[in-house]
Amino acid sequence: MAALNVVVGISGGIAAYKAVSVVRELVLAGHDVHVVATSNALRFVGLPTLEAISRNPVNTDLYEGVDEVRHVAVGQAADLIVVAPATAHTIAKIATGQASDFLGNTILASTAPIVIAPAMHTEMWQNPATVANIETLRSRGIHIVGPETGQLTGSDSGQGRMSEPSDIVAAALAAVASSHDLAGRTVLVTAGGTREPLDPVRFIGNRSSGKQGVAVANAALARGASVTLIGANLEVAPPVGVRLIEVGTTLELQTAVEAEAVTADLVVMAAAVADYRPAETAQSKIKKRSDSRTLELRLEENPDILRTLSSHRSRDQIIVGFAAETETDDSVLLQLGQAKISRKGCDFLVINRVGWTEGFASDRNTVIVINKLGDRVGEANGSKLSVAHRILDLVFAAR
Ligand code: C5P
Repeated sequence: MAALNVVVGISGGIAAYKAVSVVRELVLAGHDVHVVATSNALRFVGLPTLEAISRNPVNTDLYEGVDEVRHVAVGQAADLIVVAPATAHTIAKIATGQASDFLGNTILASTAPIVIAPAMHTEMWQNPATVANIETLRSRGIHIVGPETGQLTGSDSGQGRMSEPSDIVAAALAAVASSHDLAGRTVLVTAGGTREPLDPVRFIGNRSSGKQGVAVANAALARGASVTLIGANLEVAPPVGVRLIEVGTTLELQTAVEAEAVTADLVVMAAAVADYRPAETAQSKIKKRSDSRTLELRLEENPDILRTLSSHRSRDQIIVGFAAETETDDSVLLQLGQAKISRKGCDFLVINRVGWTEGFASDRNTVIVINKLGDRVGEANGSKLSVAHRILDLVFAAR
């Protein structure tokens, strides 16, 4: 990618110290970085640090550089604006177009892609005012990265932690590379893992957290697609801006997929689906037996949603399946994938290795993508968001 003129806006939250790493990564990648810090941001991180790391003067005061009309010039020159961290206050100001400080002016004066990384306490993030402001920003095509669920400033944890600097940089550069390349497209993503009830309190399920599927939904949304997410027992928050349909079992997932796939240009089946369900579901809790030390469960096969979808597709749409395998040998993994894609009939298969410690709950992933013919079309390794962008790049490029 050619060197970009990047504005990094920093607002006043504790995550401002991590913005230094955002600036650093962008500079090391060869970009010309101009920091615009609010006065509160400078209470958290020193101006000399930002000037040294960015290798440019930091802009804070509206009344500095007036002769160069700097309050608009910085925004006009930008190829990309990244706001990290974006506090609830700064988000509200951007949503209402306020120009009371340098950052507000810069954003209003720019036509470049804008990527913001919110950071705040969970209550503030979930407050209807913030939710509405985020929706406003998204509807204007502003990309939102995170926030993640994790440790907050104090001993508390929850949703609101700023995304990691490398994720912010990856999302920001992807925003430039593909600004709205999926505008007008409809994307359907399934995520999570289905659970098949044995009785009112127990189920047969799997360890899928839904992180990779949610990352695909996030990536598609950031690229301008209209996204429907069918979430099966998600352990992560769905992105604001997707249409969410919550399901529990494979049969519920099937009904939702069949209804939604009709209008989708791309279907990504990232959910881990139970191949079998209990033949009977007890209406009251199954009691421990005193007459036997074993309990037999009878299972019946679930429908293969992906295979049915691929064979009955009504129009030209791209269908992507996932294959989570515990196989450790790469060539055997590929062979399993090749056999699977010919069984399923989908256009692409994303193969990833899972195990006790890798795959499911992790924030990172390593995948191989193959096409219908079983040919390897690419691979990806990194944060689940960066893997998601790569999958979208590969499947749309191959069409
Ligand atoms: O056969 P396996 O479960 O490994 O295939 C995984 C892929 O197939 C995933 O994309 C998953 O969402 C989909 N699948 C499905 N219906 C099933 C089982 C898996 O759609 N019953």
